[in-house]
Amino acid sequence: MNVQLQPAQVNGAGHLTIGGVDTLKLAEQYGTPLMVYDVNQIVNQVENFKRVFEERGVDYVVSYASKAFAIKAIYQLLKPLGAHVHADVVSAGEMYTALSAGFPAERLTFHGNNKSYQELSMAVEHHLGTIVIDNFHEIELLDEVLNEQNATTDVMLRITPGIAAHTHQYTATGQVDSKFGFDLDSGQADKALQEVLTNPRMKMRGVHVHIGSQIFELNGFQLAARKLMGVIAHWANDYGYQAEIINVGGGFGIRYVSADHPLKPEEFVAAIIDTVKEEAQQLGLKLPAIWIEPGRSIVGPAGYTLYTVGSRKDIPNLRSYVSVDGGMGDNIRPALYQAEYETVLANDPQAPVAEHVRLAGKYCESGDILAQYAALPKTKPGDVLAMLDTGAYGYTMASNYNRNPRPAVVFVKDGQSQLVVKRETVEDLARLDQSYRLG
Ligand code: LLP
Repeated sequence: MNVQLQPAQVNGAGHLTIGGVDTLKLAEQYGTPLMVYDVNQIVNQVENFKRVFEERGVDYVVSYASKAFAIKAIYQLLKPLGAHVHADVVSAGEMYTALSAGFPAERLTFHGNNKSYQELSMAVEHHLGTIVIDNFHEIELLDEVLNEQNATTDVMLRITPGIAAHTHQYTATGQVDSKFGFDLDSGQADKALQEVLTNPRMKMRGVHVHIGSQIFELNGFQLAARKLMGVIAHWANDYGYQAEIINVGGGFGIRYVSADHPLKPEEFVAAIIDTVKEEAQQLGLKLPAIWIEPGRSIVGPAGYTLYTVGSRKDIPNLRSYVSVDGGMGDNIRPALYQAEYETVLANDPQAPVAEHVRLAGKYCESGDILAQYAALPKTKPGDVLAMLDTGAYGYTMASNYNRNPRPAVVFVKDGQSQLVVKRETVEDLARLDQSYRLG
């Protein structure tokens, strides 16, 4: 079956366009492999999220989960979208990138299950908006940091809601057996709350869950929202503390291939808001602000990877391998999660499918297969292929395996393109190496 594209995505020459720019021109100008992002698509998705809250009259934050794609340009793109648009960071590297891009510190939330003393110091020094505390060790470390800097900070507590999301086991995080967050049933979350409430340097703002990623079922999110509201009610009754924020995390699944039929990302959020409202009413609680943390749904569908076709191997009566100039170094997801994508021929994206081939990368590893069964027209060396929906967790999980440089990244908008990350060079790869001198 042919890939469904918007009519506007094919120009007069019959080529695939992204943001009004011909993909063959992009490949020629910037080289391949190349990551291309349609800026309008990113902004539209954020606006769709904002609208769903505004229509329902709820206080909210849309906090972009940087781990999906963390470069300076994305923070610069998100910054003007308003005070309700925040970003999550999970390391000194993401924090540094966001801050050096000029993203306001008060709109950053710091996550992670093993934040270091140095990272927590950096967060406090720069007055990050919120630190989401994950475990007891972190309460101690943060207390030390705050004392050392004579500072205070807003915090939330991450809890593990005991919800098993239906997704790949590596991307499920809500089940009790998880490395993230305070366990509810054993009383860990209550104990953490008491520690934070009695710490004069920590201002407790709310409670956080994240049940997993690439989730299609609404049910898990609704359960999580109910669970959080239950926790808020319990804390209000037993500790006299009413949380102002419930943060329901991210994880809204997107369409990668024709077998995927997710709800629109904002439809997940609408259902979550409705659930929270219902629960607040039933439990007699003041409606808290609702925070969400989408990553994939904001940048995934907006991203494309352009590759150039190279060698081909036909194994009689078995299959054909078509190799491209990238692979597991720029997109580990097929190898790591058996993730699937659709791929089109850039110079004729609607050409009839002529064959199913194994689309291989150039890395020295049999597992370096980008698509097990790519439906393509007949291709020849030099053809440009566009892999769709690669915008999330591709570039951020890229590696230099085999000492291959990471691709360049280009943003496109209204017929114009701009290089936002340069292609790595072989010199970059050896930049940190030191000469061996011991003889
Ligand atoms: N909030 C928290 C606390 C998270 O841990 C994550 C993702 C998100 C939000 C955003 O989830 P999203 O909306 O992007 O699904 N590398 C994997 C995905 C790992 C997700 C980790 N946490 C992949 O390539 O599928």
